[in-house]
Amino acid sequence: MKRFRPYRLDAATRDFYADVRVSVNDFIYPYFIVDGEHEIQPIHSLKGISRFSPDELVKDLEETIALGIDKILLFGVIEQELKDEVGTIGYDKDSLVCRTIRLIKQHYPKVIIFTDVCLCEYTSHGHCGLLVGETVDNDTTLPLLAQMALVHAQAGADFVAPSAMMDGQVKAIKDLLHKKGQTAKVLAYSAKYSSNFYGPFRDAAGSAPSFGDRKTYQMDYRTKNQGLEEISADVEEGADWIMVKPAQTYLDIIQRASVAFPEIPLAAYQVSGEFAMLKTAAAAGLLNEELGFLESLTAIKRAGANYIITYYAKDFVRKGL
Ligand code: PBG
Repeated sequence: MKRFRPYRLDAATRDFYADVRVSVNDFIYPYFIVDGEHEIQPIHSLKGISRFSPDELVKDLEETIALGIDKILLFGVIEQELKDEVGTIGYDKDSLVCRTIRLIKQHYPKVIIFTDVCLCEYTSHGHCGLLVGETVDNDTTLPLLAQMALVHAQAGADFVAPSAMMDGQVKAIKDLLHKKGQTAKVLAYSAKYSSNFYGPFRDAAGSAPSFGDRKTYQMDYRTKNQGLEEISADVEEGADWIMVKPAQTYLDIIQRASVAFPEIPLAAYQVSGEFAMLKTAAAAGLLNEELGFLESLTAIKRAGANYIITYYAKDFVRKGL
């Protein structure tokens, strides 16, 4: 008989044998930006998370940085009236995201800024690419994503993160960045599934599609190997980092990606619905919030993620987990 219980004797012994520990360095913390000044809009579906105007975001960053979080992911939230069919407001060099990047870098040059590169936040129809009729068109979308990435990079983003799930988006972005002498890296949302867990985000960002769904471009979760093929294609196109999204419900894909591409940093996104599920269960007294998040985030890291995008990052540190 092999005896395992000695590994679990007491807290110090269990700590000693722990293979995986989530740390503050793993986190990328998302921010939703709205235009204006002095705006702090709590997001009801994402308890504890708010949309900030750029000035308030910079103020909030003081705490984030003091907590030791040095990586953030920016999303622009645009009023419906300002959107158009082609998402013009998203790839202007003075876009909300660009202005915010510049402001952040003025105050906190060392913060590592990631930006979401996608049309869904900026188009009146809320799809991630350009429409031809009712179809999201791949190839005509590519230059627009590349242009959005370029203006983000020129404003000072360290990483651009294309999330539109258009084929060839990484190459289109890499080529344009290179041509324009920009050194920003690409975090590719490589294996991004058409998931039911993005609901609170779409509410927060006002980016729900006005018709149809995203199944013609985001991945079908019933596939097993396509995620690896998507990642492989992005790596070939020059992705610097790769991502699996969602995280909690896709641990198998995270695990396989980490084994298949050990040399490429791997991020996983604990998405809004996954966050909200844990929060809601905790609020209903069904689990301990801190311990539930600790277990969930540890599982994501154990599966092989090097970085975790999570709305819980600040709470994690605040609670001393
Ligand atoms: C698209 C984008 C989405 C999320 C991040 N980027 C929404 C979608 O693809 O439908 C979801 C993140 C979350 O749910 O927390 N730009």
